Amino acid sequence: MVHIWPIGGGKGGSGKSFLASSLGRVLAGLGKKTLLIDLDLGAANLHTLVDVPYPVKCLSDFIHKKIPLLENTVLETPVPNLYLISGAHDSLDIANLPYEQKVKTLKAISKLNYEWILLDLGAGTSFNILDFFLISQNSIFITTPEPTSIENVYRLIRSIYFRRIRQYFNAADFKTLEEEVVQEFGEGSFNKPDCIMQAVKRAHPEKSLQLENDFNSFRFKLVLNQLRSKDNIALGAQICKIIEKHLGFQVDFAGNIAFDDRVHDAVCQRVSFLDRYPYTRTAYDLRELSKRIVNSTSEQLLIRYS
Ligand SMILES: Nc1ncnc2c1ncn2[C@@H]1O[C@H](COP(=O)(O)OP(=O)(O)OP(=O)(O)O)[C@@H](O)[C@H]1O
Ligand SMILES: [Mg+2]
Repeated sequence: MVHIWPIGGGKGGSGKSFLASSLGRVLAGLGKKTLLIDLDLGAANLHTLVDVPYPVKCLSDFIHKKIPLLENTVLETPVPNLYLISGAHDSLDIANLPYEQKVKTLKAISKLNYEWILLDLGAGTSFNILDFFLISQNSIFITTPEPTSIENVYRLIRSIYFRRIRQYFNAADFKTLEEEVVQEFGEGSFNKPDCIMQAVKRAHPEKSLQLENDFNSFRFKLVLNQLRSKDNIALGAQICKIIEKHLGFQVDFAGNIAFDDRVHDAVCQRVSFLDRYPYTRTAYDLRELSKRIVNSTSEQLLIRYS
């Protein structure tokens, strides 16, 4: 059974790659065959975090048909059970990945044979990024305690929600829906999930039910990274509550990760922070967080790309 977990955050530098590599390290250590895929095309650096300094092949070899099977772009890492598909040689920005290539990549990922697949997604809310999130009902969102980072992660989650609704309609029906919402609730109401869902319920009751089931099956997890001693430890849970209030679906708080200057040292030394500094608060947080993620059970793949 495959568990696919996209990892993202609205803002660059929040710790997506650090979390992906650390979670991968813990899972591999538990004996789980784990694959990291660097989808932060254009700014890929996950290979450095897992000590594969010169990736000899990467995702673009598959995208550009140099390597026909995605499986054959997989690289071993120095850690047993931990594998990588690097994005190192991809000059392409994921936002500009053409539609056919995106669908081809999504389909290929969903057919890979690993117990855990972690996708390191770049920052931003382009349709392509949103579609990679929607490959699975599971997702991890990471933010720092800074308000700018929180705003961006909220915007990202809201965009995924809208993108999912959009996938249920063709362009014409979606346009009609938009007009109905604006007519009934006023200008600007199309940005409000509640208004859209009310309109969907009235005009497309079957789709509304399917969408509700869909949203109920999502397992979104929020991680608060780089928490310093003066920061509010309850902030993560508060953000989840706000998201639930405004978007109407549940995001579980998965845990805090303490800030530690030695993360920088581990990155510079190209060693896993968990191996180099196992007795730190940050390493403890990462292990606890990983346990919670392993213990959460949703593993179904959406059939859209199978
Ligand atoms: N808990 C932490 N404590 C201290 N430093 C951290 C922590 N988490 C991440 N960092 C540092 O923050 C920086 C950004 O981390 P990372 O590269 O994982 O972010 P990212 O979200 O993947 O960024 P990008 O969007 O640029 O890919 C790195 O320099 C890393 O060392
Ligand atoms: Mg990154």
